[in-house]
Amino acid sequence: MPRSKETDELIFFVNGRKVIEKNADPEVNLLFYLRKTLQLTGTKDSCGGGNCGACTVMISRYDPISKKISHFSVAACLVPICSLYGAAITTVEGIGNTKTRIHPVQERIAKGHGTQCGFCTPGMVMSIYTLLRNHPQPSTEQLMESLSGNLCRCTGYRPIVESGKSFISSSSCCQMNEKGRCCLDQKENKPENKSNVCAKLYEKEEFQPLDPTQELIFPPELMRMLENPQKKILTFHGERITWIIPGTLRDLLELKTEYPNAPLVMGNTALGPDMKFKGVFYPIIISPARISELLTISKTKEGLTLGAGLSLAQVKNILADVVTKLPEEKTQTYRALLKHLRTLAGQQIRNMASLGGHIVSRQPISDLNPILGVGKCILNVASKEGAQQIPLNDHFLSGATNASLKPEHVLVSIFIPVSEKWEFVSAFRQAPCQQNALAVVNTGMRVLFKADTTTIVDLNILYGGLGPTTVSANKSCRQLIGRCWDEGMLNDACRLVLEEIAPPQSAPGGMVAYRRTLAISFFFKFYLDVLQQLRMRDPRGYPGLSKTLISVLEDFPLAIPQGMQSFECVDPQQPPHDPVGRPIMHQSGIKHATGEAIFCDDMPVLAEELFLAVVTSTRPHARIISIDASEALALPGVADVITAQDVPGNNGSEEERLYAQDEVICVGQIVCAVAADSYAHAKQAAKKVKIVYQDLEPVIVTIQDAIQHKSFIGPEKKLEQGNVEEAFQCVDQIIEGEVHFGGQEHFYMETQSVRVVPKKEDKEIDIYVSSQDAAFTQDMVACTLGIPKNRINCHVKRVGGAFGGKTSKSGLLAAVAAVAAHKTGCPVRFVLERGDDMLITGGRHPLLGKYKIGFMNNGKIKAADIEYHINGGCTPDDSELVIEYALLKMENAYKIPNLRVRGRACKTNLPSNTAFRGFGFPQGAFVTETWMTAVASKCHLPPETVRELNMYKTIDKTIHKQEFDPKNLIKCWHKCMENSSYSSRRKAVEEFNQQSFWKKRGISIIPMKFSVGFPKTFYYQAAALVHIYTDGSVLVAHGGVELGQGINTKMIQVASRELQLPMSYIHLGEMNTMTVPNTIATAASSGADVNGKAVQNACQTLMKRLEPIVSQNPNGTWEEWVNEAFTQSISLSATGYFRGYEVHMDWEKGEGDIYPYFVFGAACSEVEIDCLTGAHKNIRTDIVMDASFSINPAVDIGQIEGAFVQGLGLYTLEELKYSPEGVLYTRGPKQYKIPSVTDIPEEFHVSLLTTTQNPKAIYSSKGLGESGMFLGSSVFFAIADAVAAARKERGLAPLLTMNSPATPEQIRMACVDQFTELVPQIDSEGCKPWSIPVA
Ligand SMILES: Cc1cc2nc3c(=O)[nH]c(=O)nc-3n(C[C@H](O)[C@H](O)[C@H](O)COP(=O)(O)OP(=O)(O)OC[C@H]3O[C@@H](n4cnc5c(N)ncnc54)[C@H](O)[C@@H]3O)c2cc1C
Ligand code: FES
Ligand code: FES
Repeated sequence: MPRSKETDELIFFVNGRKVIEKNADPEVNLLFYLRKTLQLTGTKDSCGGGNCGACTVMISRYDPISKKISHFSVAACLVPICSLYGAAITTVEGIGNTKTRIHPVQERIAKGHGTQCGFCTPGMVMSIYTLLRNHPQPSTEQLMESLSGNLCRCTGYRPIVESGKSFISSSSCCQMNEKGRCCLDQKENKPENKSNVCAKLYEKEEFQPLDPTQELIFPPELMRMLENPQKKILTFHGERITWIIPGTLRDLLELKTEYPNAPLVMGNTALGPDMKFKGVFYPIIISPARISELLTISKTKEGLTLGAGLSLAQVKNILADVVTKLPEEKTQTYRALLKHLRTLAGQQIRNMASLGGHIVSRQPISDLNPILGVGKCILNVASKEGAQQIPLNDHFLSGATNASLKPEHVLVSIFIPVSEKWEFVSAFRQAPCQQNALAVVNTGMRVLFKADTTTIVDLNILYGGLGPTTVSANKSCRQLIGRCWDEGMLNDACRLVLEEIAPPQSAPGGMVAYRRTLAISFFFKFYLDVLQQLRMRDPRGYPGLSKTLISVLEDFPLAIPQGMQSFECVDPQQPPHDPVGRPIMHQSGIKHATGEAIFCDDMPVLAEELFLAVVTSTRPHARIISIDASEALALPGVADVITAQDVPGNNGSEEERLYAQDEVICVGQIVCAVAADSYAHAKQAAKKVKIVYQDLEPVIVTIQDAIQHKSFIGPEKKLEQGNVEEAFQCVDQIIEGEVHFGGQEHFYMETQSVRVVPKKEDKEIDIYVSSQDAAFTQDMVACTLGIPKNRINCHVKRVGGAFGGKTSKSGLLAAVAAVAAHKTGCPVRFVLERGDDMLITGGRHPLLGKYKIGFMNNGKIKAADIEYHINGGCTPDDSELVIEYALLKMENAYKIPNLRVRGRACKTNLPSNTAFRGFGFPQGAFVTETWMTAVASKCHLPPETVRELNMYKTIDKTIHKQEFDPKNLIKCWHKCMENSSYSSRRKAVEEFNQQSFWKKRGISIIPMKFSVGFPKTFYYQAAALVHIYTDGSVLVAHGGVELGQGINTKMIQVASRELQLPMSYIHLGEMNTMTVPNTIATAASSGADVNGKAVQNACQTLMKRLEPIVSQNPNGTWEEWVNEAFTQSISLSATGYFRGYEVHMDWEKGEGDIYPYFVFGAACSEVEIDCLTGAHKNIRTDIVMDASFSINPAVDIGQIEGAFVQGLGLYTLEELKYSPEGVLYTRGPKQYKIPSVTDIPEEFHVSLLTTTQNPKAIYSSKGLGESGMFLGSSVFFAIADAVAAARKERGLAPLLTMNSPATPEQIRMACVDQFTELVPQIDSEGCKPWSIPVA
């Protein structure tokens, strides 16, 4: 076959411009190409594996046969550039920018406050943009679908959805809301009509209309090129891989004969991650994208034949159409497929992944293969030898060699037969969350009855998630043939299936008992589903299912979230140009939405810049015997390998090394680093570094291990009030228990990133870093290199989310990079891949809480003795502070007269845990709410009654003897009760639960007293620098970092008020250590408070200087006054300073006024759980927060919503999994699920308390960055409430504690029933579990 030895030109268009790539490398993906070759850095890199949507772009293709153009969103990180021949790509830069015009999608997401850090925003914009290109008037379902593959860690999604909703006309609304009301109509949600309450965070009326005629057209040149292809076969030769695109099926089959081991790349969503993350390598790749036979669709009366190259999104559309046209009995398999296609992955992956790729890759947890398998589908395959048909059955799916495709085979199409009259097919899946998550277990089930009977003629069951491949319950099915579809058969089926499918206790993925329970719970669903269908077909012939049983079959609908936000209006007398108190858009909002906002890794590469990849320890505790870098150094592009020996100054501290020195103390510790001319080269070389270890004892992984080995960080801390022992003597009841609280990954969308740029003179260095603490970074680099701080300028323009994780860790990573820059003399870029970031940097501390509580029968708690241990990991970091905070804040809103709490941080061989939003409070107060709930249960009282009874009521002192007034706490509580209609909804929940056995609802209201700030006065100091230029423009710099929390927006508001100038005069550039030295970390909810005071101080100094000039010329303009000041030699530059709040703490005495003020709040959440699967749905949340007078209600409400959703993730979803040796398994969004758009409450209301004061903080505001996190626990306790209802009905004792997070596994296993009881108890004796809890 004639094929070019030369590489062909790769031609495609990006944003209307032609790209001709003469040296296309098959290993380069579109994301890299856009960012690094075309410098289009608007498209972001966050996970690199198709799971987060940050890299979403739109691809448009033209089909020369049908002459149709299609547009679809894709994850650019999984698109090889060689697959783009003839495609037109649109990126966020291509749809609008601040220089020409911004697109309505960009405008609405920014003005609707749908962006905070902005890192996810371009991806969100492109998902909505693509939707609108296909459906200018989308439905709510289409909107939710379009966002299903996009993650945001900051906003909590509500404002993003709302921006998208603004394009939906009410005629295309789902009408899904209560009483068939339109979800776009918020009339009924308006807050009570009070003159000082506002509910509008933006002006919808300002939005530009969508004008589809303004969009880029498909390039006519590409159409011509595709209609008259010049070459039959295209070949691209890369550094290591050759990519071949045949033009005809014949060519393809020939190529497959010539290169049988070459994969056929379609969507690259299976192959791409394998090559990237598992090191799979193929020197030749064949792309059948141009083969029209792979795209055929044919419908006959026997069934559907679908081309293997059709995308899953196309398959979904085809099936959706077919099921409307055929009688239901014929479409059993189609409906089952359709059901799973709605939740499989996100929209981008569904657009990319092909049906053929899905089938052939035979992933163990494939959603479609079990259905296709039971549906008796046939694979039409071809090779040079001819065509062949292979049944898609359990044999094929098990990967059996004699049934598999031969290497030279090409799957051309799949035949999916229509179902027969007496045939029923169902599919079920359960995943950690509703959408964009791989299933834990899924299944396809089919039964064929003898006509007019329910006698089983044929039965097939295939499961995913119960073995290394899709597994079949063949033996069980055979034994059930001839049986009637009745309860006896159901019971036997469950027993047989459990006998046949019994993964070992150590099976990868763990959760063995849960998985097995799901296997039979799904069969129960199938059993009912079939009965229900029989009944529907013949109501007289078959008995109806009771309402209770019908509920088993009802899946939670994917509803569009909606909500209402209310806050205090500004005083009507406030001048219109004074922005304080108004919901001003994020200063960088528009730039986030257009992709013009520059993050650390968006900066262009400098001459000679090197890229760093680290080699991390694979052992939890070991001596390093040798490091052999010779093979790595010999690879192309490698500049150097850096180890501890290369550190010129301090290699970190004795307790926390930068580069491991002599020994390693956790898996993931940095041992050495490779610097190379590209990241790809650095990474390839890093894999070649050989390290020899000698394992050391002990290996301490869990808190229990640490306690046993007395392995601690710092001494025990204790607080005590009253006389605990005495009080225990006089109570009615005592309970004791313990609760385990898992850790949390920060999952900031921008991974840790730093660039170190050594200058040529005087050892000066510029550091560009994504850090919350520029001064600490400067300090670390200075100590590491042994140079004074005055040579180091640390720049932070913006950070793509941090949440505490970029406080200490980014400083350490910057120092690691600085050593490489020092050794090589070159600029060094060090950007962690998501997997490395999750492995290396630690997260929230897991906690083990033990409690002994003494209380009266009326629920009044008299005594509590509490003990906390946290898992600090292998270095001290902030662990001592975290345990202190957990103790100081543990009482939450409650006055416990006799209370003792002790706590200690454990040192283990896990990566070092660190600061995380809430800093100990979300863990410590969770334990408190656990025993509050337990007391209520013991007293047979509603939990809210016990909570209210024990709450602070009057001015009082906290456990650390700080006086405070709980008035606003009580106000929040009552307001939340009222807003949520708690009493009537509690009744409704009870009524629902009486009617429903398998679905239960739960409701919970949780109060909150959150103390803001740091433990020492000097941590609160802040400085600012304000310059006025002679043209009147103002430049503000301050010591806070813009993390997405809107600090810069608030600082501009402060300067605007103080200088009495419109905000347009004021600019805020980057933060750096040269303009504002000795800064404090932007953390602890206090950034805007303290920096606001410093900016205010600087502005007031300037205004004072201008005062004489203004009074001489009161009618002058700002520019005139400024010029006059200049001519009078008055300095127009001033620093501002804030000393900090006076705080102190004496741990010896256990007392201190440690916090400047408290934030109060309350949240009420309602959920519904599915007792049979463990799934839950967040129905509604109402939050009331005492924000005092918010400087910017849009920013503050955004913080509350975002933190709440992060908390919801913490308490119900996010689960880190470790091996018994301390190896973190969950290293990316594929395994670690953070909330996505479908996980937030369907109704989500936030209101800020009005007319409250906080004289301590600027303009009577409050810092709200962290507090909302804890309110996420209201969802946890609502789940616990629902579980309690289920257990009560089943006659089980109440569960006094549920561990956090309340995952589907926990929920299901707590709702004990006949199915859980059938599953044999785990006999862990002699069996090593796959994962262990570390709390
Ligand atoms: C982020 C993400 C989320 C996901 N979530 C889910 C989920 O929730 N549920 C689920 O079931 N799956 C999920 N998947 C898996 C996804 O469904 C598969 O990766 C996808 O269907 C594979 O199709 P592809 O076209 O991308 O295959 P490719 O990666 O292009 O190819 C895969 C394999 O199939 C072979 N192949 C492809 N086409 C042919 C052909 N015509 N003939 C012979 N061999 C062929 C190739 O040689 C290759 O070995 C997810 C994947 C990702 C990346
Ligand atoms: S970076 Fe591509 S999906 Fe996450
Ligand atoms: S704004 Fe979405 S991740 Fe930060």
